[in-house]
Order: sequence, then C-alpha cells, then structure tokens
Amino acid sequence: MKALVIGGTSGLGRALAAEFLSAGWDTAVTGVREEAIMDFSAAYPAAKVSRLDLSVAGAHARVETLISSLGGVDAAAVCAGLYTDDPEADWTAEEKVIAVNAAGCAAALNAAYGHFRKKGAGRLACVSSIGGVRGNARCPAYNASKAFLFNYLEGLRQNAAAAGLPISVTNLIPAYVGEGTGCGPAMLAAVLAGRRSAYLPGYWRLLAAVYRNLPDLLHEKMARWHYVLLKPFMRRSPRWKNKT
Ligand SMILES: NC(=O)c1ccc[n+]([C@@H]2O[C@H](COP(=O)([O-])OP(=O)(O)OC[C@H]3O[C@@H](n4cnc5c(N)ncnc54)[C@H](OP(=O)(O)O)[C@@H]3O)[C@@H](O)[C@H]2O)c1
Repeated sequence: MKALVIGGTSGLGRALAAEFLSAGWDTAVTGVREEAIMDFSAAYPAAKVSRLDLSVAGAHARVETLISSLGGVDAAAVCAGLYTDDPEADWTAEEKVIAVNAAGCAAALNAAYGHFRKKGAGRLACVSSIGGVRGNARCPAYNASKAFLFNYLEGLRQNAAAAGLPISVTNLIPAYVGEGTGCGPAMLAAVLAGRRSAYLPGYWRLLAAVYRNLPDLLHEKMARWHYVLLKPFMRRSPRWKNKT
C-alpha cells in the first residue's frame, strides 16, 4: 500500500508519515524547507521525500505529476499549513495563509481526489484546525482558510458518495497539539477507518459543538477572554508560548 503525505516533513504531517511507515506503507512525503527535508530523509531513509510548495502556481499539476511518478497511491493526506497571528489583518500575511491553507491545499486535495476517482477508491485526508469552527479576531485569515477546508472536504465526501465510490474523506481537526508527536496513531486510525472527522484530542468534538452554537453576540464579546479561557490548552503548544 502506498501513501503520500503533503506537508509531511514537520509536525503533524511528520507524525502521520511516521505511522504510515511503521505500518509498512510505501510512503512519500513532501516538505518545503531544505533542513526539514534533509532531517526527515535522515530519520526515515525508507521514505521518498521531495520538495513541494503549494503557494507556487501550478501546484495542482505538480501533485498530479508526483502521484503519477509514484505509480499511484492508496492514501493521500494534505497536512501542509501556515499560521499567522495577525490582529491588524496585515494583507501580505493573510494572502500567504489563504494561498497555502485554502487554495494550495485545495489544489492538492483536488489532484489526489481526481486520482482516486479514476482509480475507483482511495483514502483522502486533510489536517484542518479547530480554528475552522468559527472566526477569530487574532487570526481571521487562518480560521477562514480552515473553515474553507471543512466545507471543501465535505463537498468531496458528498461527491464520492454520489458517485457510489469507496473514497473516504477524513477531516483531521487538531486543537493546540503543539508539534503533534503524540497524534500520529489517532490520525492514522481515523484515516484507515475512513472516518469523516477526527478531533485531536477527541474531547474537542464536544467543545467545538458548544463553540459552534454560541450566540453571535457572545462570540463577539468573547474575543477579550478567548485566549484566557484557552490558556491551559495552549501551554501544550510551542507556537502559542508567547501569548498572554
Ligand atoms: N500544531 C497544532 O497545534 C495545530 C493546531 C491546529 C491546526 N494545525 C494545523 O496542522 C497542520 C500542520 O501544522 P503543524 O503544527 O504540524 O505545523 P508545521 O510543523 O509547521 O508543519 C507544516 C507542514 O506544512 C509544510 N508547509 C509549510 N508551508 C508550505 C507550503 N507553502 N507548501 C507546502 N507545504 C508547506 C511544512 O514544510 P516544512 O517541513 O518544510 O516546514 C510542514 O511540513 C497545519 O495545517 C496547521 O494549521 C496545527
């Protein structure tokens, strides 16, 4: 069995790729930074590692070419993503986040989904974020890009169902998991079980349901104390360490 993990050289993607490898899958991984690519190759010599920047035009064709060069795949996971903490909504930062997290990931998902449609089966997964549940004052573009992924994945899932094809589409939804080293087994299990969504950690499914249904007025007022409430969860994530 063959797997492709896009954005698999660091963090959550790396944790998922490591699980595919240890489960005996022939695994290909992409990254962007040279040092991350070298580091992954050294740690996992059995993996095929290449560079793929989803923010550069032509990402869809490059993913198609990559999948062909692998002789097809049975599972594809898009784990690439960028975060910007951008209270002033600086457009340069927002534009890049939207380009990678929304347009770039959609290009990769579409190319992999097209491959599975032709093949007649497959396992497609994408790492979105708990941020996709609602808008956020500090990172409007990031949360919006993740909301886009929720919706895009749902569309692909419905498309597969309408075609009567056994193509699973799994939305992996992490919440403040830091480097995500402990998340690999749960992510692989969700992909192999063909789950529609998996929250990481799982209890965020309940918190997300509450948060999604919070009245708008309360949500707007909550901007002030949102991070105070979440601080105990954020401590686990290095990316949040400078926040109040
Ligand atoms: N960690 C969390 O707590 C958390 C919470 C919610 C959601 N998420 C989401 O989970 C995903 C992975 O996050 P992470 O924390 O594991 O981050 P990470 O360690 O920075 O990993 C991101 C991955 O995406 C790749 N990447 C970055 N820019 C790219 C581009 N332009 N084109 C293609 N690939 C690109 C990176 O390549 P390099 O290895 O070369 O850098 C890396 O492999 C992201 O979508 C993130 O939004 C994470």
